[in-house]
Amino acid sequence: NPADDEGYNEYLYKILVVGDIGTGKTSIIKRFVHNIFSMHYKSTIGVDFALKVINWDPKTEVRLQLWDIAGQERFGSMTRVYYKEAVGAMITFDVTRMSTFEAVAKWKADIDSKVTYGPEEKPIPVVLLANKCDLGKDAFIKTANDMDKYCKDNGFIGWFETSAKENMNIEKAARFLVDHILKND
Ligand code: GTP
Ligand code: MG
Repeated sequence: NPADDEGYNEYLYKILVVGDIGTGKTSIIKRFVHNIFSMHYKSTIGVDFALKVINWDPKTEVRLQLWDIAGQERFGSMTRVYYKEAVGAMITFDVTRMSTFEAVAKWKADIDSKVTYGPEEKPIPVVLLANKCDLGKDAFIKTANDMDKYCKDNGFIGWFETSAKENMNIEKAARFLVDHILKND
């Protein structure tokens, strides 16, 4: 049993997954945790949970408690409750719908105003996911340079083009986020 071993570390991290309605939060989580995808859309009500265990390295296990928050909740009063004690977040938008990109700033402001970590009350690390990139390069007009600048200006640790459908970059984005969280610890 590796847990008996001195120097073996297990971490449990609460991660928020937010973004506007239908941008693919639930699909991203289902792909990441169960490696499944469906085109059938069933909107999340309130919040759902999933657990993903990552064998980070031979001496480190990372458990991600993923909070899949309904896009509809941006207009509700529960997010403060849902965000409590989160140490990282993913914000999604749908590359085919500009309005969902515009909402990213609103989600980021909501998180930053309601959750911090450490005695210095720093903002939690947030990664930006440009989802549904399988639907075509032309679908989204922002260039990689624009996105890099957007992240820098708005306090995102980085961004990834993702596809829950094609299983693209989800694991990579999650690892990038975890790496930041581990370094903060
Ligand atoms: P709410 O729970 O309502 O906030 O939505 P959500 O963000 O959880 O979106 P969900 O994962 O339910 O996906 C919405 C729709 O988009 C579904 O029909 C999915 O099949 C589809 N979808 C999600 N991700 C992708 C993707 O990467 N590519 C494509 N083509 N479709 C996707
Ligand atoms: Mg959902």
